[in-house]
Amino acid sequence: MSTKEKLDTKRIPQHVAVIMDGNGRWAALRGKDRLEGHSQGAKAARTVVEAAAEIGVKYITLYAFSMENWNRPKDEVAGLMALLMRSIASQFEDLIKNNIRLRIIGDTSMLPDEVFSHVNDAVLKSQKNTGLTVVIALSYGSRSEILNATKQLLRKYEEQPFDIDSITEEDFSNYLYTKDIPDPELLVRTSGELRISNFLLWQISYSELYFTDVLWPDFGKEDFFEAVYQYQQRERRFGKTSQQIASLK
Ligand code: FPP
Repeated sequence: MSTKEKLDTKRIPQHVAVIMDGNGRWAALRGKDRLEGHSQGAKAARTVVEAAAEIGVKYITLYAFSMENWNRPKDEVAGLMALLMRSIASQFEDLIKNNIRLRIIGDTSMLPDEVFSHVNDAVLKSQKNTGLTVVIALSYGSRSEILNATKQLLRKYEEQPFDIDSITEEDFSNYLYTKDIPDPELLVRTSGELRISNFLLWQISYSELYFTDVLWPDFGKEDFFEAVYQYQQRERRFGKTSQQIASLK
């Protein structure tokens, strides 16, 4: 039986978040330029989007460029921006054909104008699609997202004071870039690194974490299905006991 066939179709995660790591090491192992690794990484991203759509995942968030990535060598940053624009341009038709909605989370004000308008155009043209939502985290940092949400709330208070104790977690979530996107049930990180790297810190409070040694450019559909399969073997307790969870079944 294939891994895909082993999946419980009633327990497919709605939202999977992915830290696509290891492009540089993949390239170094082959004596290639880092950008070649990123280029293969973009192909892997497409494959994984297809895999997610195949099993009925509703949202997939891909960590394509972190706030900290702006500190990489200029050539690599420029290469990544160009790759992103190329990937969107070459896959736009398929995106629309497959009813995929594109969304961006992150501080887009830091993007070069050309990149922003390119990406934003694809977001706007796909916004009415109702299939899988592909969320690209671009110029994204979680602490900055949380700080930004706090500042917006403070500004709102300055304009019109309200009862501070009435603010709920749900209210706060509405100020995050991920407004209206359910929290990921599963977070995948490739390449053997065991850290979160400032990604969706608020949103992954109860996510199951899955780490694999596979380098991102080598990560294929089978790897994705395996991650979902492993997720389905976990017991999600949300702070309750196993007995309480069993009695709910
Ligand atoms: C981490 O590998 C990867 C990135 C910083 C960029 C990810 C970008 C892509 C996969 C391509 C564009 C994506 C889309 C959605 C079109 P690394 O460079 O940190 O690898 P290393 O740790 O081995 O050096």
